Amino acid sequence: MKATTGHEIVNQNKEFTFFSWSIQGTVNPIPVTKAEGVYFWDVDGKRYIDFSSMLMNANIGHQHPKVVKAIQDQASQLCFVQPAMATAPRGELGELLSKVTPGNLKKTFFCLGGAEANENAIKIARMFTGKFKILARYRSYHGATYGAIALTGDYRRPPVEPAMPGVIHFLDPYCYRCPFGWTRETCHRECIKHVEEIIQYEGPNYIAAIIMEGVTGSNGIIIPPEDYWPRLREICDKYGILLIADEVMSGWGRTGKWFAVDNWGVIPDIITTAKGITSGYIPLGAVIVSDQITKFFDDKYLFAGLTYSGHALACAAAIATIKVYEEEGLIENAVNLGKSLGQYLEDLKLKHPSIGDVRYIGLFSAIELVKDRKNKEMMGSESMIEIGKFLRAHGLSTFIFHNMVLIAPPLCIDKEQLNEGLDIIDQALELSDLSVVKD
Ligand SMILES: Cc1ncc(COP(=O)(O)O)c(C=O)c1O
Repeated sequence: MKATTGHEIVNQNKEFTFFSWSIQGTVNPIPVTKAEGVYFWDVDGKRYIDFSSMLMNANIGHQHPKVVKAIQDQASQLCFVQPAMATAPRGELGELLSKVTPGNLKKTFFCLGGAEANENAIKIARMFTGKFKILARYRSYHGATYGAIALTGDYRRPPVEPAMPGVIHFLDPYCYRCPFGWTRETCHRECIKHVEEIIQYEGPNYIAAIIMEGVTGSNGIIIPPEDYWPRLREICDKYGILLIADEVMSGWGRTGKWFAVDNWGVIPDIITTAKGITSGYIPLGAVIVSDQITKFFDDKYLFAGLTYSGHALACAAAIATIKVYEEEGLIENAVNLGKSLGQYLEDLKLKHPSIGDVRYIGLFSAIELVKDRKNKEMMGSESMIEIGKFLRAHGLSTFIFHNMVLIAPPLCIDKEQLNEGLDIIDQALELSDLSVVKD
């Protein structure tokens, strides 16, 4: 049956398809039929401002005509050939990726999304180094397949363990709740030093790689101190460990640079990415490796492969997407509007006692809500649900993680649209203010 009304679409979706990360009986999806720029519409014509770029991937905005046209043109010429064959868009995209990624990053293995990118990066790191352990952080998400979920540190891992063996987690540079008990003023960078201690305990000769999100995304936009990435780079060099930047969410202009590591001038050995590479128009993931790793495989067998690796439609979409970032100055817009966003969030913090912390870099930001600023007790789930309902009722869609509201709109957003969304969030926070503990 072809569903047409909102009710029918939702019911059919719910009856015959699973929804991610949720109790199936409780989901209440928006039946979406149309999207353009920073907005999307439900089947009844209600407009929503997309304040999270869907899942922080629709970076260029929705239905960009140039990308839609590139997909149509490629589809009418050649949708797909098997991955042992060469196509023009695959090679052109590979070359483009070597240009937009930092330093000597050279060759790309294509896959379908972020989890697969991380799976293949781990294989490549293990093959290249001959070592097997991987270090990753607790407040992280690296994907839901069994290798990627093993890397993931957050609540989504334990229920599905045992996953891939050999991953050791370490603590995060989460300055608002420093795991070592310091404040920004008294910080001694234990978050860096303890990584070196863990390396010594685990044995540098067994550790293939450290993987970290460029800027931690879904776990709350955790922006590391200035010297964090550079010092982790030094530690990796000292012990012969590869450094993998998971730029699935933090890449593609999101932080005001092509990739988040560019903010600190760091060149990882491998970048994994997906999401903004095509802005979600066609699924695509990529593992981009250094020149040294590229050369290593010149005479070694690459134990990696996927039927859809280098899919022509996806590659054509990515080439067009990258042109849009460049031609429309979207990364510059992320820098400029990022300043307005940051200022607005600082003002909100002065106004709303339920805000414990605001964090922002480019158009990548989070508001962390607490019941009590003194002891930082997290805002309860009932209040967060109320906020979510308010935002939805007022036509704003965004990503809420535990006690945090994430704000990561498409990079094509203008100041008026940004303020339109922020004003709705401002009103919603009056609800969480009601839950603040009174002295
Ligand atoms: C940092 C990071 N890595 C990996 C992934 C997994 O990507 P995918 O859902 O495309 O498999 C995500 C998804 O949100 C992510 O944020």
